[in-house]
Amino acid sequence: MVVLGATPTRNLALELARVTEAAAMLAGRFMGRGDKEGADQAAVNAMRLVLGTVDMNGVIVIGEGEKDKAPMLFNGEIVGNGSQPDVDVAVDPIDGTRPLAFGRSNSLAMVAVAPRGTMFDPGPFLYMNKIAVGPEAKGVINIEKSITENLIAIARAKGRAVEDLTTIILDRPRHDDMIAEIRKAGARIREIPDGDVAAALMTAQPNSGVDVLFGIGGTPEGVITACALRAMGGEIQGKLFARDEDELRRGREAGYDFDKILTMNDLVSSEDVFFATTGITDGELLQGVRYYGDHITTESLVVRGLTGTIRRINATHSTDKLDNLSSIHY
Ligand code: FBP
Repeated sequence: MVVLGATPTRNLALELARVTEAAAMLAGRFMGRGDKEGADQAAVNAMRLVLGTVDMNGVIVIGEGEKDKAPMLFNGEIVGNGSQPDVDVAVDPIDGTRPLAFGRSNSLAMVAVAPRGTMFDPGPFLYMNKIAVGPEAKGVINIEKSITENLIAIARAKGRAVEDLTTIILDRPRHDDMIAEIRKAGARIREIPDGDVAAALMTAQPNSGVDVLFGIGGTPEGVITACALRAMGGEIQGKLFARDEDELRRGREAGYDFDKILTMNDLVSSEDVFFATTGITDGELLQGVRYYGDHITTESLVVRGLTGTIRRINATHSTDKLDNLSSIHY
């Protein structure tokens, strides 16, 4: 719709798609090669190079990588070409490094951008408990309540029975009690080996067959999920999770409150968010990268918070032309 007197503003997410496409095209070469670090390095190199061309003055708030000592874009690193706007940047060059290295599904490259100072900085605290839902169940979840109470609220909001709901949760021993409670409540369960961002986004995707994400996963991934779900109309709530007493003590000393509910607004406080993700391996959210010699194909999801526009971009990249233009060999 054209509003008289209003000027359409730039959609940075479209430029971010070039960043995630480049990361996916380089990282995709590592599918099944068992080399997590090589894949991460390739994705980071591509991201860093293309981020440098984006019209923004960005600072990396969520660099990811510390968890497994992977190559990374460092927190505090300046990215973009230095022009306005001033923004916070969250990157996850590969969410699902293991699935990529071992040729499994649902590995994605992703970037989110929001106005400067609006993204939650988790510091070194890597894990958070999460609950995430799509638009129909927005506003009814509460991470302080039990899983059963949340399932009842979500079922009511969706006009279904708890037995009709499908939950998605990372397959980890730390989730044994949660899984037992979901079973007792009667909902269906999909246990996934990795990739809780893709899982959270599926809750907001019509007909994905997934209604709610539960469980403890990465804090960086939680912030990126919040950026995407803000734009897609869903909701995530979280709570920092300490793995032991020592981590809890260090967190408290650093001023982090492990009892506080992190609402979507705490995780990213602006509606003016941009998010782009490109499939690396084939998955339910996106098709992975395909290599055809003279060209490469990618599929990306690009969302913008202000307008709520969700785009799928299928791209065909000419390898000859790219290799002539770029310092990266695709
Ligand atoms: P990486 O590929 O970046 O390592 O993340 C994969 C992932 O499954 C995330 O989606 C999730 O948030 C996190 O790891 C869970 O951590 P862990 O594997 O340590 O349980």
